[in-house]
Amino acid sequence: NTNMVQRIDAKRRAAKAGGGDKRIQMQHAKGKLTARERLDLLLDANSFREYDVFAEHVCTDFGMEKEQITGDGVVTGRGTINGRLVYVYSQDFTAHGGSLGARHAQKICKVLDQAILVGAPVIGLNDSGGARIQEGVASLAGYAEIFQRNVMASGVVPQISLIMGPSAGGAVYSPALTDAIFMVRDTSYLFVTGPEVVKAMTNEDVSQEELGGAAVHTMKSGVAHRAFDSDVAALAAARDFIDFLPLSNRHDVPVRTTQDPPTRADPALDVLVPTDSTRAYDIKHVITRIVDDREMFEISPDFAPNIVVALARMDGHTIGVVANQPLVSSGVLDINSSVKAARFVRFCDAFGIPIVTLVDVPGFMPGTAQEHEGIIRHGAKLLYAYAEATVPKITVITRKAYGGAYDVMSSKHLRGDCNYAWPTGEIAVMGAKGAVEIIFRKSLNKAQAEQEYISKFANPFPAAERGFLDDIITPSSTRARIIEDLRVLQFKQQVNPKKKHGNIPL
Ligand code: COA
Repeated sequence: NTNMVQRIDAKRRAAKAGGGDKRIQMQHAKGKLTARERLDLLLDANSFREYDVFAEHVCTDFGMEKEQITGDGVVTGRGTINGRLVYVYSQDFTAHGGSLGARHAQKICKVLDQAILVGAPVIGLNDSGGARIQEGVASLAGYAEIFQRNVMASGVVPQISLIMGPSAGGAVYSPALTDAIFMVRDTSYLFVTGPEVVKAMTNEDVSQEELGGAAVHTMKSGVAHRAFDSDVAALAAARDFIDFLPLSNRHDVPVRTTQDPPTRADPALDVLVPTDSTRAYDIKHVITRIVDDREMFEISPDFAPNIVVALARMDGHTIGVVANQPLVSSGVLDINSSVKAARFVRFCDAFGIPIVTLVDVPGFMPGTAQEHEGIIRHGAKLLYAYAEATVPKITVITRKAYGGAYDVMSSKHLRGDCNYAWPTGEIAVMGAKGAVEIIFRKSLNKAQAEQEYISKFANPFPAAERGFLDDIITPSSTRARIIEDLRVLQFKQQVNPKKKHGNIPL
């Protein structure tokens, strides 16, 4: 009947209006978009199917019964990105500050459950004052229900968190459990306790930005993976990122056709590595010259830049690249770079993304600072991650592969499928200077000893003779060779011993 139709329409309109015009204006004045505007930019046109638009809270404490906002502060549903299914939730800061009550949490749980069921990524747009204070323990329960689902979804469907406003207290841990966190500069914050509490407990004066802004988390803490200047830029990047990922761990990686020929040779690579092995070069030039269309999507570019991790495509198929960066601290492996790469290797392995590793590493970082912080424990993460990974693993040593770091960086011994060196490769326990100081300590002719060491070890032959390298390849042919191998390895099957789960050193 018409009365019913009118009631439905009225409720829908109320939900669309969120917290009302005044609060929407305040949101815009901060340079932020509303929850629905964000979804419009994230999803393909007309693809959004909203769930639970009629949801309302049932809280009657502190006058909340008079503060009803249809939809309960979060917009949820599914849609598509370039035609591929994704589940989404978008918190509405104009409705009770996007705070999370029981119903709000239940809506988020529903999309997480659906995503796991059918196998599709979840993208969460976070903009919330945290646990809804008026709902007390019910809102804390809501967070935990979400955490449990984030964990169950981990490694099953990709989960991405965009932080587009405050995210404090319990609200930080759902993003922290997901695969990637993108932040917006100057408008987004992540912290366990806010500046007021910090002041009260520690007497420390700190701004929201200094405590948990995008710069802090993408450069210092490593909590977030990318920072963008605006909501629009962050949402566009999320679309790009999703394009690289399979819908779930039971789907194949997506394929995008390319005009970039699979056999394209790149002669510039033949002269890119300086012959003086103490001189640096930018490994990103190597990556972009090898992959399709020079395109890569870097993860955590500003955190531990001595290692580069990125998604890219070869022959149209998604691959993950892990590469030591000689430009920063000679590409040394330290705590942060080990952890950064380990997480990425496990991400790729979980989602069936082949891993291409480019090695130019002088070893692990020496010194008390690193030892006391536990480089042994953290370096072991990367070793563990490579050793357990069963996706195709292709390794190219461009120059140095010294010491334990040689073993760690996807070596043959950790079930590397194809291991190559360029002619500039040097695979040894350590560099010539250090080695001579130890084994020729008493020798009078150090220079001669060093020369002897260099001609014996500063080349790829000792490893190639033993079968630890499959071949020594011309740098310009690297792309063609990797693509050929990826085709061969496409149906690789490898199974680890049955177990509940391993015990990766944390
Ligand atoms: N529970 C209930 N309502 C909340 C809330 C929460 N956790 N956080 C914000 N709100 C409400 C505010 O009461 C306000 O309502 P109103 O518009 O009806 O007045 C609205 O959301 C906007 O909040 P406001 O404080 O005006 O926005 P702001 O941009 O100045 O500040 C925060 C945003 C998030 C920094 C601030 O609201 C805050 O500190 N909230 C509490 C954070 C917290 O400690 N949460 C618990 C963590 S588990």
